[in-house]
Amino acid sequence: MTAPILIAENLSKTFHAGRRFGPGGRQNIQALSNVSLKVYPGETLGLVGESGCGKSTLGRTLLKLYTPDAGKIIFQGQDITRMSERALRPLRANMQMVFQDPSASLNPRRRVGDLIAEPLRVHNYGAREKIQARLEELMHLVGLAPEHLSRFPHEFSGGQRQRIGLARAIALNPSLIIADEPVSALDVSIQAQIVNLMADLQEQLDLTYIFIAHDLAVIRQAAERVAVMYLGVIVEIGDTDTVMLTPAHHYTAALISAVPEPNPAARRARTILQGEPPSPANPPPGCRFHTRCPAAQGRCKTERPELRPYGENREVACHFPL
Ligand SMILES: Nc1ncnc2c1ncn2[C@@H]1O[C@H](COP(=O)(O)OP(=O)(O)OP(=O)(O)O)[C@@H](O)[C@H]1O
Ligand SMILES: [Mg+2]
Repeated sequence: MTAPILIAENLSKTFHAGRRFGPGGRQNIQALSNVSLKVYPGETLGLVGESGCGKSTLGRTLLKLYTPDAGKIIFQGQDITRMSERALRPLRANMQMVFQDPSASLNPRRRVGDLIAEPLRVHNYGAREKIQARLEELMHLVGLAPEHLSRFPHEFSGGQRQRIGLARAIALNPSLIIADEPVSALDVSIQAQIVNLMADLQEQLDLTYIFIAHDLAVIRQAAERVAVMYLGVIVEIGDTDTVMLTPAHHYTAALISAVPEPNPAARRARTILQGEPPSPANPPPGCRFHTRCPAAQGRCKTERPELRPYGENREVACHFPL
């Protein structure tokens, strides 16, 4: 089997909220707790889970936009966990991020050409003519016209802006792109176009993706493997069809059954999640899902389940998987 392009080992990240919460003092939010995963070249790994479960934190930590408190990140065989920003610089070209709302990351006062050229200039891509030629090539790759280079971001639709975000991300020929909810702000019809464009780019440019989404339908479309997160931990990871069709973790099952099924024959018994997700400032001991799990018993309350292989193509962190 080919070596992973990215390995995360036991990553943990706690945010120390600046505000004081009552007499208890500062709140520590455990956004990631012992997260491990491997990403293989050329694949798309989906990352799914409820709002606040730590998807964006994981994406940013993997790219060292946040420094993890503990654990290790290995990118293309190099341990980047404690690498200085200077040492990381040449690697930065190789790992890029795409965001949900490109307008937030695209300066409205600058022309599209300037915005896409920025990473090229920062990494000393070459002289003006070389940059201009690359810009035209990038526009072509993302399905925009070269004339668009002289326009401003507000002159584009949401889908087109995401194409600009992608052009910027692929400008330096990266190997890995972490896309944080890249289609969540778009209309459903446009979502499919962007997912398809990303798949085309992946094939043409040998890209590896981590694709963050809260929408399971998008994950099924975009990702061949998926990691399901709950309160800062990965509870299940594996082949997307295996995980979605026969979930092993009770949380995955609940997520899936929360999606309305239009075909009555295909409807499964619904697992309704009990209560609110607990606060990440005070996560439950043992299995973090035990307070809402229909199958929780004794040891679930005290003993944290580790991710273990379950069948051929997945791992699950549950004492009593489905
Ligand atoms: N910079 C920060 N400072 C303090 N707390 C943070 C920070 N970033 C995230 N958090 C907290 O960490 C937890 C995980 O947040 P994160 O943004 O990673 O979740 P998410 O899964 O991406 O959610 P969403 O689906 O809403 O984007 C949340 O409780 C969030 O409030
Ligand atoms: Mg997020």
